[in-house]
Amino acid sequence: MSDFLAAYSIQNWLESCPQGYLMGTEYGHSPEEREIPLVLDNDVLRQDAVRTTVQLVVGERCALAASSGLINAAPDEGSKRFLATQTLDEARHVEIFTQRLYDLGVRKGELEDVITRWANPNLVKFAEILLEKVDRKDFIAGVVGQNIILEGMAFSVFEMMYAMNKTVNPKFGHTLAGTIADERRHVGFGENRIGSLIKQHPERRGEIEKMQKDMSYFILATFADAFHQTQAPEELERLGVERTHAEYQGVDLGVMDPAQMEQVLADTVLKEFKTRLGRIGIEYQTPVRPA
Ligand SMILES: [Fe+2]
Ligand SMILES: [Fe+2]
Repeated sequence: MSDFLAAYSIQNWLESCPQGYLMGTEYGHSPEEREIPLVLDNDVLRQDAVRTTVQLVVGERCALAASSGLINAAPDEGSKRFLATQTLDEARHVEIFTQRLYDLGVRKGELEDVITRWANPNLVKFAEILLEKVDRKDFIAGVVGQNIILEGMAFSVFEMMYAMNKTVNPKFGHTLAGTIADERRHVGFGENRIGSLIKQHPERRGEIEKMQKDMSYFILATFADAFHQTQAPEELERLGVERTHAEYQGVDLGVMDPAQMEQVLADTVLKEFKTRLGRIGIEYQTPVRPA
């Protein structure tokens, strides 16, 4: 437990995060970095970036509500302090992705309307399942839902977006890199803290397995919508801009159509769930595939 406390302490968070990889950044990137003209000057690409970034804000707002809500549900002081650091991380993620919306031309007064208009309904349902557990102060289900399911999914999505952006859009790439480093810590906490609690409460497993299955369905439905809606690959082709050869999970995203990319991402997320849930003694349940 003492190693656990040290690894997830506020002291460790200060040294590795604000005084570590975030040193010198402004909203997650170098102060001189800007959104790229290719995106800012093209309505299709800009709109695509706005819609994608809205989903990030929606997901991070859910993580902020969940991590702060779980502080008072946590059974031990070490978990409460870790969740306090996570709360600040998630608030930062909300802020930096909101800032990206402003950088993409969203006006401050229209922010909430833009978010409501483009928020994926399946992602909203996904968030509701998790926040219902948090509202009931159900620590075990809340941590599995947040630190394993939500953040495991976010981790894979951010890594895919990072692969596609790091060379063509260093500003967004750096914003994602800091977020990925945070999410790695959050997922690690989930696995380390919850395994022993599940052993103590085996009667909770059935309900948690059902939650995973339901949340996974809405993840797959969100991915299906997102890759169906994107017009970026076609627009880049129309503009004659060569797509970047971004490697992710051993494949080249630069030669894939959106349906193939969706498949790679969905497979990666579900495979990760299986591994992570196995480590904490939860049996992975295959979700229904959205029609
Ligand atoms: Fe986050
Ligand atoms: Fe997180």
